[in-house]
Amino acid sequence: MRLILLGPPGVGKGTQASAIVKKYDIPHISTGDIFRANIKEGTELGTKAKEYMDKGLLVPDELVVSIVKDRLTKEDCEKGFLLDGFPRTINQAETLDKELTKMGIKLDKVVNIQASKEILIERAVGRRICKKCGASYHITFNPPKVENICDIDGGELFQRDDDTHETVSTRIEVYENQTQPLIDYYEKKDIILNVDGTKPIDKVYETIVEALTNR
Ligand code: AP5
Ligand code: ZN
Repeated sequence: MRLILLGPPGVGKGTQASAIVKKYDIPHISTGDIFRANIKEGTELGTKAKEYMDKGLLVPDELVVSIVKDRLTKEDCEKGFLLDGFPRTINQAETLDKELTKMGIKLDKVVNIQASKEILIERAVGRRICKKCGASYHITFNPPKVENICDIDGGELFQRDDDTHETVSTRIEVYENQTQPLIDYYEKKDIILNVDGTKPIDKVYETIVEALTNR
């Protein structure tokens, strides 16, 4: 299964991605996670990416594209992959298409999750992440059993630097201007699957899996 998860910030891409990759046993490739790992390790790429991420802006295409190209050539991608948060611009999508053609493979589906701006802000601002394992929670919609402690490994939960009300609003605007055109791009290729992201987490998951099974 070769999938893209498309959707605005906070809509639930990462949450759904974690469950989908488990079900289909495919690698989860999140460009946001790759940048955050680089920031944590203090690499040059991380330092460059942080400048943009903290402002809610997209990291320049040239920094993103080579990372994804490299990742797709790894052995574990032979069984498929799920791209989460990539592509985010028409240029990234066209580059990905060229790369996949070179590799002789095709995308199965682009899962496009949607929700209103109010919901996106509420979800992103209330998100908390485990310092140890990266599991994602929400203070209201998906709280841990013990406040601020990860259910899985007891790790402490933290809030992402770019999850403030102001930066989330910028990220949504950036999404509307630069990423939303991709819906049309993939609709023309007839591989898009539009999913109502306003439903509870397990309902969204069921809808996606059902549609992928009957594709
Ligand atoms: P990235 O990490 O990709 O962030 P994003 O796209 O803004 O998406 P989020 O991670 O904020 O949200 P999500 O949709 O994964 O939601 P989640 O499942 O966590 O990118 C960060 C930055 O990196 C970008 O701003 C950019 O600078 C840079 N970047 C990354 N990729 C790039 C690229 N290709 N090109 C250029 N720059 C790039 O859910 C959110 C919250 O809601 C959680 O708390 C969750 O528990 C809760 N929730 C989820 N689903 C539901 C539901 N159905 N009901 C109730 N609550 C829910
Ligand atoms: Zn954890």
